[in-house]
Amino acid sequence: MSKEEKYQNLVAQAKALSDAESDSIAVMANVAAIVHETFRFWWTGFYRVEEEELVLGPFQGPLACTRIPFGRGVCGTAWKEEQTIIVGDVEKFPGHIACSSLSRSEIVVPIFKHDEVKAVLDIDSEKLNTFDETDKKFLEEIAQIIGSKL
Ligand code: SME
Repeated sequence: MSKEEKYQNLVAQAKALSDAESDSIAVMANVAAIVHETFRFWWTGFYRVEEEELVLGPFQGPLACTRIPFGRGVCGTAWKEEQTIIVGDVEKFPGHIACSSLSRSEIVVPIFKHDEVKAVLDIDSEKLNTFDETDKKFLEEIAQIIGSKL
């Protein structure tokens, strides 16, 4: 199966999971699981906006930082800039927060409700340059599905 086909399946599954469950955290938990299982990423999960910080939400993978301030790291920057950020080499991203020294590349997708960022979807890879425009396109669709539950 191509990467596009895998993502098409994931979007359909995310939609079905979201239609079947009203609790957004439960939906995030299962979406983290299916994305992580499909691509065997290093870390796949959500951070939710709680006042002036991002707080760790449902995820799959190793232990992670629990709180990230606005504008800090890749996650805090995606929140501040209200756009998806793809980092091909985390060592070249100023202020990258290294929850794990094995993480080499990363994508962070903001999740909006009524035009405001309410959470982010963060995916880390232990390989360089893992994420491209295809990941961005489909992960933004998944983010939109989650956003509609918030
Ligand atoms: N690397 C992220 C922090 C979150 S973890 O990787 C799970 C960042 O710079 O925002």
